[in-house]
Amino acid sequence: MDTPDRRHSRYTAQAVWTQQIREYLLAECQPVPERTLDVGCGTGVVTMELPGNVFGIDILLDDIRLATKVSPGPSYISADAFRIPFPSDSFDLVCCHFLLLWLHNPQTALQEMIRVLKPGKSLILFAEPDYGGRIDYPSPLEALGGLQQDALRKQGCDPELGRKLRSLLSVSGLNSVKTGVIGGEWTTDFSLPAEFTSEWETLISDLSGILSPDETTFYAELERKAWLDGTRILYVPTFFARGKKPEHIPSAANNGQLIVP
Ligand SMILES: C[S@@+](CC[C@H](N)C(=O)[O-])C[C@H]1O[C@@H](n2cnc3c(N)ncnc32)[C@H](O)[C@@H]1O
Repeated sequence: MDTPDRRHSRYTAQAVWTQQIREYLLAECQPVPERTLDVGCGTGVVTMELPGNVFGIDILLDDIRLATKVSPGPSYISADAFRIPFPSDSFDLVCCHFLLLWLHNPQTALQEMIRVLKPGKSLILFAEPDYGGRIDYPSPLEALGGLQQDALRKQGCDPELGRKLRSLLSVSGLNSVKTGVIGGEWTTDFSLPAEFTSEWETLISDLSGILSPDETTFYAELERKAWLDGTRILYVPTFFARGKKPEHIPSAANNGQLIVP
């Protein structure tokens, strides 16, 4: 069963993948923000590294409680991304990390995030994956990617949100919008990645009822062997984006609804 502690371990491992892009995007954000909001902050792994007087909100009260213990510094509040409990124009930086793919209407949440951002200040979407573009090698592991996508869809996730980030921001009314993809790198250190166990715990839970225990063991062993013999490639394109809130958002952009298929 997933617990706040397990999620915290998983978020800690995932934050390592995006550390460089977070540093790069934050360095571009000048002057250093005085008031920052992290939406869907989880257990606060990324939140506690953000600049200024930092607030984190998340819908899960248990994770907010854990965040106050394991990720000290920011102020944490249990709240919905669709109803952010702050006045308009009140933050110098609003950001999120692995959030939008979990929302039923990411565009509405983006509009709410922009509402609480001060004019002239930055919105940063640090990381949104696109499992549809996933590369798995050796090829017997390709099946795993498809199965995981199906399981994510069943949980209400949009596994192809990454490729939609640019479209979502195009109608947001933000200025200086930039979107990109995080790269990959594999070395000759033929060992299991630190997140191997936590990722498989998640996969086993995601794929229960889809794969038999024997099939799950088969794929886990295949992947373990591939990491250890230095053949494993696993690449999930993970998109990032940022933009600035203009002094005045044109009303068409404010109300614009892009239908993202
Ligand atoms: C994949 S986790 C990422 C957590 C954290 N940002 C991180 O990367 O460590 C997605 C988070 O979004 C939160 N979330 C989902 N829907 C939400 C909503 N409507 N409002 C606020 N948070 C939400 C979940 O509770 C979860 O903590």
